[in-house]
Amino acid sequence: MNGDIFQQVDEYLERLFDDTDEALRQTQLRAQQADLPAISVSPIQGKLLHLFAKMLQAKRILEIGTLGGYSTIWLARGMAEGGRLVTLEADPRHAEVAQQNIAGAGLDDQVEIIVGPALDALPRLETDPRAPFDLVFIDADKESYPAYLEAAVKLSHPGTVILADNVVRAGAVLNPDPEDAKSIGASQFNLELAEHPELDSIIFQQVGAKGHDGLAIAVVN
Ligand code: SAH
Ligand code: DHB
Ligand code: MG
Repeated sequence: MNGDIFQQVDEYLERLFDDTDEALRQTQLRAQQADLPAISVSPIQGKLLHLFAKMLQAKRILEIGTLGGYSTIWLARGMAEGGRLVTLEADPRHAEVAQQNIAGAGLDDQVEIIVGPALDALPRLETDPRAPFDLVFIDADKESYPAYLEAAVKLSHPGTVILADNVVRAGAVLNPDPEDAKSIGASQFNLELAEHPELDSIIFQQVGAKGHDGLAIAVVN
């Protein structure tokens, strides 16, 4: 595959459509300075998340996997007036950087980071007044994607949209490597998504600055 042309088209699309501002630039800079892994969504993918939130007029968003808060900020900026976003992050160091970035974007009052393993926080959210959520974005450890899908459905209402990043993994999901828990997790997630009686779903392949991957899109019936 020609990675160079994918990169060039991403840059072209960024010139046309990207709404990156100083707060988002600072977010990526702080993440880099704090040595966080460079695995956030791309600007184009961030804009897509933003559009989903806006199309849904989302007032309640749940994110699983905050990192430095880059996708968090794109999503939160797409929320309707009075919207609230909850984001789950296992690594306190990532959460600290994200907290600074969220403050820098002026989103302190709208966004709460819950620090700790997502599988601990998710059952507790079932009785949280912010649930059910209008939009869920799954982007943490791929091994737990099947469990995150079940938790997301429990925290949903009819019409909730569930998104999941990295579900193609450059085609590794075609033949998951028994040594690679990430490809097994993503592949199992995809199967459960496709067969889930309460969900109507599709997976979109993506190419671009982050190589070849895919985004799962599901709506709760
Ligand atoms: N959504 C972010 C990228 C997330 S990267 C963006 O696009 O900007 C994945 C994040 O999930 C990392 O910060 C990692 O620390 C976190 N993570 C990994 N395992 C986790 C777990 N069990 N619970 C919560 N977060 C987890
Ligand atoms: C990884 C995680 C992600 O969420 C991503 O978008 C890309 C890579 C990773 O763990 O390597
Ligand atoms: Mg991801």
